[in-house]
Amino acid sequence: MTHPSRRSFLAAAAAAGSLAAIPKLVYAERTRARRLAAGDDHRGPCSISSGNGVRAVAKARDRIREGVDPVIAVVEGVGIVEADPNDTTVGLGGLPNEDGVVELDSSVMHGPTHKAGAVASIRDILHPAQVALKVLQTTDHVLIVGEGARRFAIAHGFEPTNLLTPKAREAWLRWKRSNSPNDDWLDDDQMDWTPDGRERRSADAGTPDPVPFTYGTIHCGATDAAGNVSAVTTTSGLSYKIPGRVGDSPIIGAGMYVDNEIGSAGATGRGEAVIQSCGSYSAVRHMGEGKLPTEACLAVLEEIATRSKRQRRLVDDEGRPNFNVVMYALRKDGAYGSAAMWSGASFAVATADGARREPCAHLFER
Ligand code: GLY
Repeated sequence: MTHPSRRSFLAAAAAAGSLAAIPKLVYAERTRARRLAAGDDHRGPCSISSGNGVRAVAKARDRIREGVDPVIAVVEGVGIVEADPNDTTVGLGGLPNEDGVVELDSSVMHGPTHKAGAVASIRDILHPAQVALKVLQTTDHVLIVGEGARRFAIAHGFEPTNLLTPKAREAWLRWKRSNSPNDDWLDDDQMDWTPDGRERRSADAGTPDPVPFTYGTIHCGATDAAGNVSAVTTTSGLSYKIPGRVGDSPIIGAGMYVDNEIGSAGATGRGEAVIQSCGSYSAVRHMGEGKLPTEACLAVLEEIATRSKRQRRLVDDEGRPNFNVVMYALRKDGAYGSAAMWSGASFAVATADGARREPCAHLFER
């Protein structure tokens, strides 16, 4: 199901000025959108994140209740996921670049001062969001990259750590083996041995599944009782990327943005698409112009979907993006929403009612 019918609803409502004049189908569509977007009606302190951040939003909410600044609270919240070796998209255990080296990106923004800090392609440092916060707090810069970021972190007492877990290393080796049947790395179905050293039996053989590229990431935004907003995004980025590739997460206005007069936004998914549409900045602007958080997310996704048609390799036979992006938006008064390019995604939110996952609205139905 696509967004244009919602747009028709808004046009119809504006033209007719009353619900009675709205065609039945369009009204049904509006009801569906409402059901998926209860967060647009929420008011009060709130933290929102990607679906992998239920613990992060709970932590951020609890720290804000204790009086901690939202920028500290969101960085502490995502720190739980950065340290989790089972999340292969963030921090420790994140999937590495094509050389098998984990490179992390993060940015953070403090609404009241409109100050941002970010690090990109940083290696060996477990908590890039904390390093981004140090950039924000202790320098006149916004973004520090690569070896400079690593040295900056070590100077601030961060211990160099091996971030490549055995699980992530094995996933990377499987990707290397599956890259091409014509290179010297044997695909799983070409080997006489299983990867763990057993002689392969016929039952083990068969065509191996292709190893997909993944974009993980955690974004977390929060607002306190005074309406002060902050946000953070942190990631290991695109799996098996070209070394030095930087996604949207550390780019202010792409992977994350805050305007304390309006609210915050963040993005996960295909970073290149988000960068090229300034996704988070655009979502905040849409809210500033009066769109509800969920509508703001959908509007950005529409922009991305429309622009994707200009690169044929990025769309399917029906002209729809062949990748996912998820947008998250939080208004300073606590209204919140999230939408994904494709159906089936969820996001995390913590309010006075608890921390939970909610379904994202979406542009396209799988
Ligand atoms: N959105 C994460 C990345 O593209 O790196």
